[in-house]
Amino acid sequence: MNRLFLDALECNNHSSRPPVWLMRQAGRYMPEYRALRAKHSFLEMTHQPELVVEITQQPLRAFGFDAAILFSDILLVAEALGANLQFEDGLGPLINPSISSARDISILSASEIPHKMRFAKTAIEELKKILRVPLIGFCGAPFTVASYMIEGRSSKDLKKTKRWMFEDADGFKQLLDLITQATVDYLNLQIEAGVDAIQIFDTWANFLGYPQFQRYALAYYQKLMQGMKKNVPVILFCKGSGGYAHALAALKPAGISLDWSCDMCAIRQQVGSKVALQGNLDPDVLLSSPATIQKEAGHLLQRMQGDPGYIFNLGHGITPDVPVDSVKTLVETIRRGNDS
Ligand code: CP3
Repeated sequence: MNRLFLDALECNNHSSRPPVWLMRQAGRYMPEYRALRAKHSFLEMTHQPELVVEITQQPLRAFGFDAAILFSDILLVAEALGANLQFEDGLGPLINPSISSARDISILSASEIPHKMRFAKTAIEELKKILRVPLIGFCGAPFTVASYMIEGRSSKDLKKTKRWMFEDADGFKQLLDLITQATVDYLNLQIEAGVDAIQIFDTWANFLGYPQFQRYALAYYQKLMQGMKKNVPVILFCKGSGGYAHALAALKPAGISLDWSCDMCAIRQQVGSKVALQGNLDPDVLLSSPATIQKEAGHLLQRMQGDPGYIFNLGHGITPDVPVDSVKTLVETIRRGNDS
């Protein structure tokens, strides 16, 4: 197996280049994905193990990434809890009815999660037989998952979520605890099935001020990590978390994943050499010319040159408007290493 990614997670990659994989590497920017998507709904694609196995491999075949990420979605845990989840073209996720107050929590149940999510186990077991690169499992952190359940859809400001959080801290915690319980079961299912690493996505935790970030983000990463039955490397990702990097590193995850609003080198100075750093190219670089992609990626490679704990990634997911050739150019640039 190609171990570049796992070596870097242990801060022990001494080869000539960092490993590379990209958040949302399987998705609508790929024609192979769109062809399947024309025949199936997104939820069907995430629930049918054969489709999950196929879609997880699509970007590996096309670009030769150093890690695979399970094709799935963070909101499947909300669905398994009993929320009515749908994905509508152009609108993204919809949860209807939304969870508006502590009273609504009673419609949710964290029982039988491994049974309800057994499709993921089947897919992971199958993938582990086939893959020659490590497989990343993942989950959403409770705050981000809760925000979709409360807002009912993608929101630009999370006002409903934050109003509830400030007005009724006990009820809000009850919801986060329930999501945590389900998520721990889901993570253990993925770990038992054989994933090599776990990434925790708390995309919207950057909406929190520091006291709330401690209470509703950091404390819950700790609960998730403590709930894992086996010691699998964990990567923590939240957007805009450069300013909180020291606090993330203090939880001692294997890695932290950063967006493009911070300087990776400066973060390395702050957090020391024992935590892997993943990121942080601006995904919009992929909308520019090959020469610009080479220049911007080359610059980041140079900044992180020789760092045994560096994993090349974007600062957030690839968007559907990215040309496939841009991803090819990017991956070739990383594979050529620091002399590009
Ligand atoms: O990275 C991968 O290739 C693995 C698959 C993956 C998806 N979603 C597939 C997906 C992962 C890791 C996620 C995580 C996810 N999902 C997050 C956290 C990371 C981030 O991007 O911030 C969040 C917040 C979600 C919730 C979600 N799912 C939204 C807001 C949307 C709609 C936005 C959009 O891009 O359409 C989704 C849908 C979704 N998840 C798609 C894919 C490939 C597009 C679905 C389609 O084909 O219509």
